[in-house]
Amino acid sequence: MDIMNLEKVFQSKIDDEIKIEPKDWMPDTYRKTLIRQISQHAHSEIVGMLPEGNWITRAPSLRRKVALLAKIQDEAGHGLYLYSAAETLGISREQLLEELHTGKAKYSSIFNYPALSWADMGSVGWLVDGAAIMNQVMLCRTSYGPYSRAMVRICKEESFHHRQGFEILLTLSQGTEAQKKMAQESINRWWKPALMMFGPPDDQSSNTEMSMKWKIKRETNDELRQRFVDVAVEQVKFLNMTLPDIHWNEERGHYDFGKLDWDHFWQVVKGNGPCNKQRLDARKKAHEDGAWVREAAMAYAEKEKLSLENQSKSA
Ligand code: 3HC
Repeated sequence: MDIMNLEKVFQSKIDDEIKIEPKDWMPDTYRKTLIRQISQHAHSEIVGMLPEGNWITRAPSLRRKVALLAKIQDEAGHGLYLYSAAETLGISREQLLEELHTGKAKYSSIFNYPALSWADMGSVGWLVDGAAIMNQVMLCRTSYGPYSRAMVRICKEESFHHRQGFEILLTLSQGTEAQKKMAQESINRWWKPALMMFGPPDDQSSNTEMSMKWKIKRETNDELRQRFVDVAVEQVKFLNMTLPDIHWNEERGHYDFGKLDWDHFWQVVKGNGPCNKQRLDARKKAHEDGAWVREAAMAYAEKEKLSLENQSKSA
């Protein structure tokens, strides 16, 4: 089949909601877009463990510690599902990690902010995981089979993350004046960076048009951001707290959320956010410190292979 026909068959599969699988023909740019998005997503899960990891030793009770540990371990698992999904597109794990460590691959802007108080564990769960879920529910219907199946499993666990965050804030909201203040101050700090997680406005989003045509993305950055705002405004009422800069817009039938500083967003994406250096250094150190584990696993696998070969020879 010539390239024109291959493209036609590919697009008609997408239009008919038939998943694209690793061995199917796909345009090069579809493959590249998926590798970029899935690897960025995987790196976000892994780097996203760092701000919360900082609070495990300082969790205020055993129950909170166990829940936070479980959540962070889930994130590692999500990263591994996603790296495996990216590998089905023909890129190796080593290459994926190399691109993270050299700064070639991006990860979500949100993980370059510091977690300053215990209330931040609440805000991260409620707002950061909440924004992630809003985006990831649509990705369960993404056109690439391995990505879509990974997202179904990931979304189930994200719902638990979201609830544990909201519960932390709910408890603080019923506590002392100092606890209420800490919670409100944390919500104020995380709100706008969480809105920026959805990516640049649609008119500045270079990938959206093609990604929508290929059904990699099923909704645009602005559509998801607005839905998240409208839902969060209702949820914050249960905390008796407020979200900064929110106004009901009668004409649009949605809440306005004020101006977002996109120059600041691009600075963070380019590596100049408050914690970019710290996050990347921590990832590189973890990779170097883990070299012996990878070597031991390879040596063990080699030994097992040899012993299986010997067994089959002597049988
Ligand atoms: N942080 C860093 N980079 C971002 C970004 C963000 N929040 N939003 C967009 N970008 C980058 C894009 O990768 C793209 O890079 P490029 O110039 O190299 O192509 C550029 O900015 C332009 O943005 P686009 O809108 O054109 O990019 P996309 O079409 O890919 O849309 C997205 C951006 C909506 C984030 C999309 O990539 C997506 O849905 N990704 C999957 C979900 C994901 O990665 N979530 C990250 C959070 S995961 C998480 O939070 C872990 C959980 O445990 C909390």
